[in-house]
This record gives sequence, structure tokens and C-alpha cells, in this order.
Amino acid sequence: MRTAPTVTAVAHPNIALVKYWGKRDENLVLPMADSLSLTLDIFPTTTSVQLCPDDAQDMVVVDGHPATGEVRRRIASFLDMLRTYAGRRARARVDTRNTVPVGAGLASSAAGFAALALAAASAYEIDLDRTALSRLARRGSGSAARSVFGGFVLWHAGSSDAEDADLASYAEPLDDARLDVAVVAVLLQTGPKAVSSREAMRRTVATSRRFPGWLASSRLDVTAMRAALAEGDLPTVGAIAELNALGMHATMESASPPVTYRTRASHHVLAHVRRMRERGEQTWSTMDAGPNVKVLCPTSDAHRIADELSAVTGCPTIVARSGPGTRVTAGVDT
Ligand code: DP6
Repeated sequence: MRTAPTVTAVAHPNIALVKYWGKRDENLVLPMADSLSLTLDIFPTTTSVQLCPDDAQDMVVVDGHPATGEVRRRIASFLDMLRTYAGRRARARVDTRNTVPVGAGLASSAAGFAALALAAASAYEIDLDRTALSRLARRGSGSAARSVFGGFVLWHAGSSDAEDADLASYAEPLDDARLDVAVVAVLLQTGPKAVSSREAMRRTVATSRRFPGWLASSRLDVTAMRAALAEGDLPTVGAIAELNALGMHATMESASPPVTYRTRASHHVLAHVRRMRERGEQTWSTMDAGPNVKVLCPTSDAHRIADELSAVTGCPTIVARSGPGTRVTAGVDT
């Protein structure tokens, strides 16, 4: 049996400060609007890919167990796309290890597909620059386009009129962002969610009357957020991020049937963060497609704020800062 080298890549999740919610093309994973995020330094995903020309099908192992169902289907169709691009037929063995609880709205798919895109492209010897890698990761999961880069990142929706819209939708680092911020994640619940973010997003676009209004304000949020990041203006960044996230949840809660990720515990944390702000703390909440709340605050206050939120909720908290983009850690780099 011939053996090819194993390529291993690592990627980190990102937290969107202006959210991606709504696709204009499901197949190409093209978003309806730009989004803006911070890549974090916690919960990395490490993915190894080895080509096995003698295997009849791909083998996918996630956290030590053979993948099944939707997870396996998404990874196998991502590999099919790469094989078509590379003109190769070899099947692959994929071994991916998360350190983030899967399906808890902590963006495991962003880190997962960013690491897979880099490891698999390297294994299939596809030479990609970072922009092309971001576009490739996007095809696995939209938010993965942003985890290719470290720090503050903007994902361009691209123009709908573009001849090849796929080329115009990629992420890039925001080099002029200069903001001192930490993210305190309150881990209220770490089990898998009942409705996937993909399905929730689809349902929201199709049925929520609030969605068009949120989308329009989100476009304005990106412009205002970029200016505030360049100014290092945390109160403005925090205020925009909190309203953008709460607005996104309002769109899905008004879908038919509604999708409700916010639990009683989430509302408790959201209210406490507002109370902390009223007494002079610099704290703002954001949430993704899950019940957990992430709190933006100055880095120097983060551990104190994390301790308070742990005491108030009885749940674990973790402090994150700006993290790096995806990179190859073993094997051949592209
Ligand atoms: C709420 O990137 O997981 O976290 O493209 O369907 O895989 P798919 O969706 P995904 O959605 C992330 C949604 C979000 C907001 C965000 O990260 O911008």
C-alpha cells in the first residue's frame, strides 16, 4: 500500500462582532452582507489529512469517533469539491480534534473547516494563497472564511452582479484595527443544539418579517464598527456588537416556526451584563447560534469580570483574547 504524508493544520474559532446571518447562495455559501469578527486564542481545532489512494471511501474521525450523518456528509462533500478542483481521485483519512464543545454555538464549524481547508488543500497539493484559502473554507462553513486569519477580520459578501461571485467573497484581516478587548465566554450549556445554525439561518431568511430590517442595519454596523476599531473605541464597538447580536436573535425568534437559542440562563447573563454596565463596567454581550453568552470587555478587567459571571451563574467562564489564523503544524505547507 502506498502511503502519503499526513498534513496537520490548526485553526481557532472566531466571534462575529457584526454577524453573518443569511445566505444569498446556499451552494456557494455566499452571504447576504459583510460580517466582521475577532479570531480567538481558545478552543483550537486540529485536523490531520492523509491521502489513501487504495481506500474506497473517505474515512472521517471526529474527536476519536467515526463521523456519521450530517457531519460526515459535509466533510465528504467538501473533499469531493477539492478532488474535482485538484483533478485527483484519492480518498482521504481525516482526523479532527476539537477542544470546543461541538454544536454549542461556539463556532466549532468555523475552526473545523478552516483547519480542514488548509490540511486538505496541502494534502492534495493545491497551492492556494490566503484569499483563495478563505474562499475554500467558506464553502465548508461560512464563518470558517474568517478563521483563516488572526485578529480582527472582515468577510466581504462580494457583489451579486459579479460574473464569478465565488471569487469576490472572501475574508481579510483588518490591519488598521487597534482595539484592546477580551472576550469572556460564559459556558451555560455545552450539549449539541436542537436546530443547526444552517437550518435556523435558512428559516429566518425565508420567514422572518424582521430579517430585512436587521440586514439593512447590519450593513451600516459594519461601516461604523470598522471606524470604531480603527479608533480603538471599545464602547462604540461593544454597543454595535451587542445590538447586532440581539437583533439577529430577534430575527430567528420571529421566524416560523421560531428558533429560540436564548434560554432563561442566557437572559439572566444578558441582564447581569447590562447591570454591570450601569454601575460603570465596560461590558457588552454577544451570542451566536446557541445559549452561551460572550462578554466583550477591556483585557485588564477580563479575569475579574469572568470571576463575577462565574459566581452569578454557577457556570464556568473562560477568558479569550485575539488569536492567530490557521496554520500547518506538521507535514507540507501550501
Ligand atoms: C451565528 O458559519 O455556522 O455564528 O455557513 O451554514 O455553515 P454555515 O453557517 P455558520 O454560521 C455562523 C452564524 C453565527 C454568526 C457568525 O459567526 O457570523
